[in-house]
Amino acid sequence: MFVFICLTILQLITGYVAAPESMVAQAFQNDKIVSKVVLNPPSELISVTYPGVSIYLGTTVQPLQTLAQPVVSYEGDDNELYTLMFFGPDLPPSVNVPLTQFLHWLVVNIPGRDISKGDTISSYFPPTPYPGGFPYIFILYKQDGMLNTTEIPDMSFILRRPNFSPMEFAEKYNLNGPIAGNFMHESYLSVIPEVLQTFYNILGNAFG
Ligand SMILES: *[C@@H]1O[C@H](CO)[C@@H](O)[C@H](O)[C@H]1NC(C)=O
Repeated sequence: MFVFICLTILQLITGYVAAPESMVAQAFQNDKIVSKVVLNPPSELISVTYPGVSIYLGTTVQPLQTLAQPVVSYEGDDNELYTLMFFGPDLPPSVNVPLTQFLHWLVVNIPGRDISKGDTISSYFPPTPYPGGFPYIFILYKQDGMLNTTEIPDMSFILRRPNFSPMEFAEKYNLNGPIAGNFMHESYLSVIPEVLQTFYNILGNAFG
């Protein structure tokens, strides 16, 4: 009997140790910058698709490919509410690995997987990378209940987007996770195409 119990315990322990770690969590931990920004790596994948390119844990993209809001999907329970965040470093990582982020997109109260039915706190603003390129991160949290959006400041205005702390926001609104995530590396274009110039102008005007 004793031997049997010991064997069972051993199996439980080795089974636990041998359980393959999620590919997503591993990718979040292995990326030099992402691992410093998202301290608690998610284990599920957020599927992110831009016209012509699917993002998978570090895909390199050009700013022109990410101008439009992507199609985003994940494993979600219709009876739960979710928060989706999309952000990138405030400063080039060569300067500093930033603890706060420039907010590119934030939707709360998403019923299940239907992002269009959530409440948009910050509308989609395309990435405008610095030289060197750096990761842009998507993460998903599960909510305990409906968030009262009249109590959350609107963050679509350009000057409300810098200095965003995903972890602080999650703590303030009791979000669980992140449960899912994805990220991409965005190349810097030395010659800015006209269509992208608009967004650089908005940023330039806002921050002098
Ligand atoms: C939401 O917050 C506002 C402002 O604090 C409050 O007046 C309102 O009653 C709240 N709504 C709900 C449903 O709790």
